[in-house]
Amino acid sequence: MKIVRSIAEMRDMVADWRRMDATVGLVPTMGGLHAGHLSLVHMAGERSDKVIATLFVNPAQFSADEDFDAYPRNEDDDCRMFEEAGASLLFAPPIEEVYPADHVTKVHVGGLSSLLEGEFRPQFFTGVATVVSKLLIQAMADVAVFGEKDYQQLQVIRRMARDLDIPTEIIGAPTVREHDGLAMSSRNRYLSEDERPRAAKLFSAISDIARATAEGADPAPLCDAAARQLTEAGFREVDYVTVRDAKTLEHYRCSEGPGRVLAAAWLGKARLIDNVAV
Ligand code: PAJ
Repeated sequence: MKIVRSIAEMRDMVADWRRMDATVGLVPTMGGLHAGHLSLVHMAGERSDKVIATLFVNPAQFSADEDFDAYPRNEDDDCRMFEEAGASLLFAPPIEEVYPADHVTKVHVGGLSSLLEGEFRPQFFTGVATVVSKLLIQAMADVAVFGEKDYQQLQVIRRMARDLDIPTEIIGAPTVREHDGLAMSSRNRYLSEDERPRAAKLFSAISDIARATAEGADPAPLCDAAARQLTEAGFREVDYVTVRDAKTLEHYRCSEGPGRVLAAAWLGKARLIDNVAV
């Protein structure tokens, strides 16, 4: 696996592959790799001849009081894992390569970005949409794979790619979980030994809501009850537990298509998010 730090080097590599008629897949990450990230590399490998993994902790999607400085960074381990998973190229740019000092352009996806996560992290989706649109334009891949773990992010990226006519197919990959159901996340390492077993309650709570909603129950009281149970189980703050339309993330009506249960809650220093299909 070749490691490049500049956009020009990545584009040269892609141009070489194009001359060989190879198709290209892209997997953007911020590192701190786990099996969830690697499943995206595998999926990209099934859908394209060459896989570019990217490693960039994107400052634009963190607010001043978030964990940008504490975010796990271990490029050597990440490189080894990407290579073992079959990536052909790692793009790991320095901040100045992505955001030159005089950059002023941002990508904002209206509507979707202000719901749910957007209410609690107002800067987040503009930071994500800006960096992901840049990566998509830089790589010009045939496909790009993102995890359903960050379900709202996936919907924002799909919408952004469509609205900006970016000709890369956006693929969603299923959430990879620990044995007890906890969704794998780079931020799970912020959980203490005490907190770790309790963290799986988030997945069991939303799974119960999905099952009952599918059987025709009214989701609103179920979501309220789940939020109370999570607080009783030691979650310090429940940002939301809600059932939404799976595509728009607006109000869910069972007659109008599939739903999605989404939740975000704080356990100790970790803010956990998860979601499941109804
Ligand atoms: P990061 O949190 O590193 O995640 C990179 C990709 O891995 C995202 O598409 C995310 O949804 C996916 N992922 C994370 N945990 C997963 C799991 N348990 N199962 C399956 N996929 C999982 O998401 C970001 O980085 C950034 O916002 C990024 C898109 C790279 C833009 O900076």
